[in-house]
Amino acid sequence: MKKILDLIAQRMRLAFSSCGYDEAYAKIVLSNRPDLCEYQCNGAMAAAKACRKKPIDIAAAVVKQLQGDDMFAEVTAVMPGFINIRLNTGYLAEYMNRMQAEEKLGVEEIGDGRVVVVDYGGANVAKPLHVGHLRSAVIGESIRRMGNFLGYRMIGDVHLGDWGLQMGLIIEELRDRRPDLVYFDESYTGEYPQEAPFTIGELEEIYPAASAKSKVDEAFKERAQTATFRLQNGYAPFTAIWKHIMRVSLADLKKNYGNLDVHFDLWKGESDAQPYIPGLIQDLEDRGLAYESQGALVVDIAEPTDSKELPPCIVRKSDGAALYATSDLGTIIERERDLKPSAYIYVADKRQELHFTQVFRVAKKAGYVAADTSMKHVGFGTMNGKDGKPFKTRDGGVMRLERLIADINEAVYSRIMENRTVSEDEAKETAKIVGLAALKYGDLSNQAAKDYIFDLDRFISFEGNTGPYILYTIVRIKSILGKYEGTGADSQAATILPATGAGEKELMLSLAKYNDVMETAFAELAPHKVCQYIYELSNAFNSFYHDNKILAEEDPARKASWIRLITLVKDVLEAGIDVLGFSAPDRM
Ligand code: ARG
Repeated sequence: MKKILDLIAQRMRLAFSSCGYDEAYAKIVLSNRPDLCEYQCNGAMAAAKACRKKPIDIAAAVVKQLQGDDMFAEVTAVMPGFINIRLNTGYLAEYMNRMQAEEKLGVEEIGDGRVVVVDYGGANVAKPLHVGHLRSAVIGESIRRMGNFLGYRMIGDVHLGDWGLQMGLIIEELRDRRPDLVYFDESYTGEYPQEAPFTIGELEEIYPAASAKSKVDEAFKERAQTATFRLQNGYAPFTAIWKHIMRVSLADLKKNYGNLDVHFDLWKGESDAQPYIPGLIQDLEDRGLAYESQGALVVDIAEPTDSKELPPCIVRKSDGAALYATSDLGTIIERERDLKPSAYIYVADKRQELHFTQVFRVAKKAGYVAADTSMKHVGFGTMNGKDGKPFKTRDGGVMRLERLIADINEAVYSRIMENRTVSEDEAKETAKIVGLAALKYGDLSNQAAKDYIFDLDRFISFEGNTGPYILYTIVRIKSILGKYEGTGADSQAATILPATGAGEKELMLSLAKYNDVMETAFAELAPHKVCQYIYELSNAFNSFYHDNKILAEEDPARKASWIRLITLVKDVLEAGIDVLGFSAPDRM
């Protein structure tokens, strides 16, 4: 369904060209002075420069062409040359009716099934999932959902950090604790046990212990490095331990991401890229793209237009070890082979910006990725505590994600129980749904690149720009609809009538932005634009609701029209929260 701005622009273009001006001037934007008009066209100013005429004369001539057009209630030329527009309420109501008849309420599937890889989550295996990984999961999930909604074939890949030093640390710590295990018997030649030598609880304790030890014990650290090296070169006993670590952690990670309602199509990791690396290095060398520099193998990536000097990308260290960038390049080769994506999106901390610039440039320079394939890094800022420093537990430790979620749910639970209208069990279930909304909306409503402050009390508030407020609005509409249906009335066949009051028109104007917002938010990879929009729509609904007694309305046609209208609001809000990655309860 055409966007309302485009429909208006279509008429405006005709008007400009019948006056002899280039129709390119007929651009329509939302008004930045809602007190004066709803939409505006500023093209007369630009046209005036080109034609050496007074902008107001051009605007007046264009406006004259549009008099009597049934799309508009008002089109006026104002100094110095603005064209101010108000829509006809009948036209707007018609747009609402068409919206509700469309499958996706007017959003078009512009993606056409094109494949887009979204790389997010990025948890490091065997290290507990902490708040640092929260943002990647929450933002990535939303981008994946937005793309699917627009008809792209989004492939979400968790891209686990499963090939690093943490593996060697765990192996050596395990050796210190249980030297009797067969994995450490160099003369052992039999099969390795099916059963893991640790539970997830033990694993979670082993890693931090090993990591702390490596900071004070140089010999231990060296052993861990050697173990990592041997693992990476296929040493069978360590591969067996690695498989145990993977199986045990993966089950736990899946549970944790599941609790966040975050999903992946692929559970691949850095280890999956390893088979591609020798060929990759060989190829870069053979084609003269990589060269030795201080013992390391590097690829130049600087471009003449760079504003600052970018260092070359190191693809092999002097000790022969592969690096983070090499893993990412290997992964790209695999993705090209298996998926042939039309675009890549990586959701990772913004401090990794240089890394991704290097990887993208090497991939393009070497032709592993076609020049017209888009590669983007969505770099996010830090989640801070109220002190403005990275969020920590009360005693200053790293906050486990599970703990964070439990804290939020408890706080929401007590808020719900304050009203005491529902059973404890229902309150617990509802608290989970509302808690997730609070957490995700609290994150997504900020521009991703910005740091934000995790403020539990604000996030769980039922008022203001919060997830619970949006849910509260949806629940309120559901309750009105339930009461309406309870009277035996049915609005299915009813049409949405032209607005009678200003608040009602406001609400329709807000609804009319829906398809545009969804497209723009995805194009800019900006879930916060969806948040902004559903907040605006919720406010418009709530003030409409405040001014109109929907259920007490005596004219049945008007009443049914309002029911259709608020159903549309509910459907748009629900589609909005769905792409953000959460849902609404029936009551709260
Ligand atoms: N595991 C990485 C980290 O914790 C994030 C991975 C991001 N994705 C990627 N393809 N490099 O920092």
